[in-house]
Amino acid sequence: MTLQGLALPQARTAESRPAHPPPAPESVHAAGRMLDSHGRVIRDLRLSLTDRCNFRCTYCMEPDVRFAAPDTLLQADDFVRVAGVAADLGVTKIRLTGGEPTLHPALGEIIAGIRVRTGCEIALTTNGATLDRSSLRAWKAAGLDRVTISLDSLRSDRFARITRSNCTPARVLGSIEDCLTEGLTPVKVNAVLVRGVNDDEAADLAALARRPGVEMRFIEWMPLDSGHAWDPERWVSAAETRAAIERRFPLVPLHGDDPSSTARTFGFADGTPGRVGFVAPVSSPFCGACSRLRMTADGMVRPCLFSTREFDLRPTLRHGDDRDVARFLIDATWTKQPGHGIATPQFRQPDRPMSAIGG
Ligand code: 5AD
Ligand code: SF4
Repeated sequence: MTLQGLALPQARTAESRPAHPPPAPESVHAAGRMLDSHGRVIRDLRLSLTDRCNFRCTYCMEPDVRFAAPDTLLQADDFVRVAGVAADLGVTKIRLTGGEPTLHPALGEIIAGIRVRTGCEIALTTNGATLDRSSLRAWKAAGLDRVTISLDSLRSDRFARITRSNCTPARVLGSIEDCLTEGLTPVKVNAVLVRGVNDDEAADLAALARRPGVEMRFIEWMPLDSGHAWDPERWVSAAETRAAIERRFPLVPLHGDDPSSTARTFGFADGTPGRVGFVAPVSSPFCGACSRLRMTADGMVRPCLFSTREFDLRPTLRHGDDRDVARFLIDATWTKQPGHGIATPQFRQPDRPMSAIGG
């Protein structure tokens, strides 16, 4: 697939940050669910615990990216409270994300709080740089179910160039092993391929998934980087990635993907256990089945990853009760846009980079 005619992301402009979303119809409130005006239901809440990160991945953050002021960040209790209200409104899956969520000093407490308050599946997305068995064990005991780890290259020099960190692929591979040992499975491993950077590693990365318990997922690079450097010439489609993998490992589609899931998953045709997933938000948008709502570390509710409108939940958290928080979440959901429209000339990149939204 080519992206001809696609405008490069535009320069930053001030985004509107209204305190409260416009009200949804009363019939929607009466349903007690987070429904949007396009017929979708929210089941999956992503909480960004911090916008800070110990990496500066080139496709994500500039080295001098500006982080949110510490006094704007939510408290651990706020995340638990929002998770609880969302669960009462029908959310079944909560993903703790970042930035790098393991940098949050109260991560264990947040997991434990969510587990006590909800029956949701709890997953964590991390770059795997600082994991160790004892923290993983403690988080699992507190209620964590699964871990997703990012790994973009198996080559130390490239890994260092991409992440602009002194971490190594060996360290991240060790973290994957630790998650498997501690039973935080299936471990999903995310890679973003960029042409001329790491696109020749598709099959090598896919080989990591040739064992039970690991799913290697290739995510198409999205225009959500803080440097606005997304470039259609360097963007690699899921189809191209799949073809590169199939030159070494023919794949067979696995049936039964949840329609709201972001990934289409494949097994290995030679019968080796393991899964490879493709997350193709650019070439095959999955907005029609979207079940996600996001909240940032500074309490902004974002109906879509690509929203240019976000709503400030902090005043409601401070001054309202749980019913007010529920009303807010229902109202915010009602504004969810039908899709991101990345491949249209009208597309405008949101000001917030992925690291400040949560993947
Ligand atoms: N496009 C696609 N994926 C991205 N990620 C971070 N920034 C981008 C982007 N611009 C990925 C990270 C992580 C996941 C949460 O999102 O690699 O694995
Ligand atoms: Fe950090 Fe993840 Fe962004 Fe890399 S992609 S800089 S690990 S938030």
